[in-house]
Amino acid sequence: MKQAMINPFNEQIQSEFTASQQYIAIAIYFDEMGLVELAQFFYRQSDEERMHAMKFVQFMLDSETRPLVPSVPELKNSFNNPADAVQFALDQERKVTDQIDNLVSLSLAEGDHASNNFLQWFVTEQVEEVATMTTLLQTIRLAGDNLLLVEDFVRRNPQNAAEAEA
Ligand SMILES: [Fe+2]
Ligand SMILES: [Fe+2]
Repeated sequence: MKQAMINPFNEQIQSEFTASQQYIAIAIYFDEMGLVELAQFFYRQSDEERMHAMKFVQFMLDSETRPLVPSVPELKNSFNNPADAVQFALDQERKVTDQIDNLVSLSLAEGDHASNNFLQWFVTEQVEEVATMTTLLQTIRLAGDNLLLVEDFVRRNPQNAAEAEA
């Protein structure tokens, strides 16, 4: 891979691991409230983010580049209410989408076609992730005080189950 891509890729590994751990913090918040479906949803999201980080690790190794395993910054462990927690998750996904877009732009500028091709999977993935989190936030707002409606929605939503396997 092109030299200019290495630091940004390492930073992306950090972002994906940060997202993974942040989602565990959000899952714990819901678990404590007894909202087991929401908790499971965020534990699954955490696994997915770890898988994203590992995709970058593997791509760098395959490209004869040594990835750096990052430490993660301070995470948010307390939330005002369920909508606040999911809004935080949505903001995080939007930030990651911007980061992926920047990586794609850089790969084009550098003429790094292998990196560009690798990143396309993440372009598609981020559209899904933002959409999933937006729908969840809307559902929480519509449910108002009855969070069991949200639990029911998460349990039924086949997209969540499909994503868990992806
Ligand atoms: Fe991710
Ligand atoms: Fe994500």
